[in-house]
Amino acid sequence: MKKIAVLGYGTVGSGVVDLFEINAASIAKKAGEPIEVKYIVDIRDFSQDKNAEKFVKDFGVIENDPEVSVVVETIGGTNPAYDFTKRALLAGKSVVTSNKELVAKHGAEFLQIAKEKNVNYLFEASVGGGIPVLRPIAQCLAANEIDEIYGILNGTTNYILTRMIKAGLTFEKALSEAQEMGYAERDPSADIEGHDACRKICILASLAFGRHIYPDYVKAEGITKVTLDDVRLAGKADMVIRLLGRTKLAPDGKVFAYVGPHLVPKSSPIASVEDVFNGIMVHGNMVGDTMFYGPGAGKYPTASAVSADVIDAVVHADKRRDIGWDDAGEEAVADMSAFTSKYYVRIEGESARSAATQSFKDIEFIDDSHATAFITAEMSEAEFERKLAALSERSEVLSRMRVLY
Ligand code: HSE
Repeated sequence: MKKIAVLGYGTVGSGVVDLFEINAASIAKKAGEPIEVKYIVDIRDFSQDKNAEKFVKDFGVIENDPEVSVVVETIGGTNPAYDFTKRALLAGKSVVTSNKELVAKHGAEFLQIAKEKNVNYLFEASVGGGIPVLRPIAQCLAANEIDEIYGILNGTTNYILTRMIKAGLTFEKALSEAQEMGYAERDPSADIEGHDACRKICILASLAFGRHIYPDYVKAEGITKVTLDDVRLAGKADMVIRLLGRTKLAPDGKVFAYVGPHLVPKSSPIASVEDVFNGIMVHGNMVGDTMFYGPGAGKYPTASAVSADVIDAVVHADKRRDIGWDDAGEEAVADMSAFTSKYYVRIEGESARSAATQSFKDIEFIDDSHATAFITAEMSEAEFERKLAALSERSEVLSRMRVLY
């Protein structure tokens, strides 16, 4: 019998506790022995909960209990999750987490401690919720050089965009629906401003390229500026708006990474990823394009990924899983001014069309009687910013987004 502790009894943590009860028999078979949740740590009062006798408030109890071999951290945020994770690893326990903020900010440090202590630090649930994606990149695609990953990494914003596109809902109404369904982070700005997707693309970039890519060096833009006008114009160009995280190997060997709303052609598999689902495209030099699709958030999908990591940590108690990367600094991240893309631009003002043509030359206007919008040719971000600055002297720039092609 293996004993584990679950830190944080919120949506994901309570899902993990439930899952180990519901699937106890099949998990015991796969792990080679039963796995039991011995402790749950949460500062809130759960004296009426069915698992009331498992609750402790002092993390030291777990740290000092040699029976606990795996600690599940589903508290979220950095405090006290950072401290508990470090103490658990230093105490020689494997740690499994869904906490993307912690992995994105401190992954390299924890991976190093785990290596020194010969335990595992596993975080499959930190990207894509219930979708298996980190382990496939690290193991099934191990024979490839990964050169690009992009995808829909945030369920809340994808839900919001889907509802804006399909039901014509305002951004605010769609956000409150997403919150009611329990998809949004405690602070919704992490979702809608792109920070959550940024943490996830940093984890994917770190894993794919072997160097820690820190969120502080990666630009993230969310969906708060996307309007129903943009949704309509994208539709007229046979595209949909999606918030994408993207990372790509730069020609100089550094790593491009960013998050931002994009116009995505309806013919792209990413365009058909709707609601709270995530879809992640991974390109390997041998395999070509692969796509990972599934529920990117929610109690049981995320608990499914966390619990599989627990089973893995139990099965590989004496052997480290090779899922990780080395530490690196800002020098690992490529300057986005060299990144090339096509762009969508919406403008307003007298002679807006001729101003756009003069500034950008080679553009395609989107046919619409209410607005002036166009799509540029492919160019570097530096060139785009220069041309947009020239245009903004004659027209008001209302909206701009990258276009996937
Ligand atoms: N708020 C996150 C999302 C939860 O909507 O994707 C899963 O990481």
